[in-house]
Amino acid sequence: DYGGGPGASSSEHDHHGGKSVVDLTGPRAGTPDVALTLTAREQRFTLATGQSVDGYTLNGTSPGPLIRAVQGDLVEVTLVNESVADGATLHWHGIDVPNAEDGVAGVTQDAVPVGGKHVYRFRAEQAGTYWYHSHQVSSEQVRNGLFGTIVISPRAAPAGPSAQGSRGTEDRDLVAAIHTYDDRRTINGRTGSSREDVAAGTRLRVRIVNTDNALVRTGLVGAPVKVLAVDGQDLNGPTPTTDAFPLAAGARVDLDVTIPPTGVRLEAGGGSLALAPPGVEAPADPLPSATVDLLSYGSPAPLALDPAKADRAFEYRIGRRPGFLDGVPGLWWTINGHKFPDVPMYMVTEGDVVTMTISNSSGQSHPMHLHGHHAVVLSRNGVKSTGTPWWVDTLEVGDKETYEIAFTADNPGLWMDHCHNLPHASEGLMTHLMYE
Ligand code: C2O
Ligand code: CU
Repeated sequence: DYGGGPGASSSEHDHHGGKSVVDLTGPRAGTPDVALTLTAREQRFTLATGQSVDGYTLNGTSPGPLIRAVQGDLVEVTLVNESVADGATLHWHGIDVPNAEDGVAGVTQDAVPVGGKHVYRFRAEQAGTYWYHSHQVSSEQVRNGLFGTIVISPRAAPAGPSAQGSRGTEDRDLVAAIHTYDDRRTINGRTGSSREDVAAGTRLRVRIVNTDNALVRTGLVGAPVKVLAVDGQDLNGPTPTTDAFPLAAGARVDLDVTIPPTGVRLEAGGGSLALAPPGVEAPADPLPSATVDLLSYGSPAPLALDPAKADRAFEYRIGRRPGFLDGVPGLWWTINGHKFPDVPMYMVTEGDVVTMTISNSSGQSHPMHLHGHHAVVLSRNGVKSTGTPWWVDTLEVGDKETYEIAFTADNPGLWMDHCHNLPHASEGLMTHLMYE
């Protein structure tokens, strides 16, 4: 629920595709491998670098705690709302959880009111870099702090170096959550330039998470990297690059770097993080102007689905229109000419292979996010993907661009499909994928 307050309607809860919500929940029984309580508060708080922010915290901080799980773990998170007046939820951005665990107020649950709690339980099936955030009045709550990161490590590291993205071969990893509080760009809640000592020769997996509303050009300066994963999905045959990475709002990228004696610096437009041996200043160079293009990056590999045999082919045309639309005056983002909630839902049957053509003539760029599924990018502006299969949950669709994507409808329920520039979602740029 983007606009509403607490106690959003629960009328949509009951039936999705002939299954009750009970069929679509995570495991209710069993001892969790990872269990924690996140207490949400509306409060004035202080960033690690000293500036104060009027916003929200989870367990007293923003970002909230980094959650770590191993693939296969049963994760149990209890959200307690101590003082968030509008109510709050937790959405597991990029993790394809069972529908009832998706944390969308007004769709999969009611917002948790002050004094209430809600228990989320799911199996961490997909290794990768993810994040969580409130999905109640999201544009306001996420911007002001109700979010954190979650890392799911592979069950077992492969024995030797792997051609499949070298997952699990790093010496250590590090999460860098980019967020702007008021006008202050931060990395892990620190403004300006911060640093972390990392010994020369360390093979580091840097997990960059963009929790902002706009795309961030990011990357490491000082050493070549390999792009290991995007949106939690491994890339195939990544090659070394020094190009910057265009990270969509809500998206994640994992970079593989071996720290040189001179260190590296993570640059995130106004915030930076030095990763260098003790006493060493990281390089000050700016990001290069060249940008990694995932359409041609890495080496091709067979797809697990056949888009030529799609059961459904959808159009998702993004536009913008002033005036009265569906009876309401304003300047509205539109999908196929309508604004939410008058956009017809995309209906699928479990098992369908779905293609979707997302085109944008709205005058602005939109990071489009599909809940509960990952989609593979087939083409951009008619140019077919020739690189590694590029799987996304959040895809930046620039003005005048057209992307063709495909996914398998393998996670029954009612799912949001919206722009992750969250004010745009509250201005109508959202719809649902629904299983019949
Ligand atoms: Cu990260 Cu519907 O959102
Ligand atoms: Cu948008």
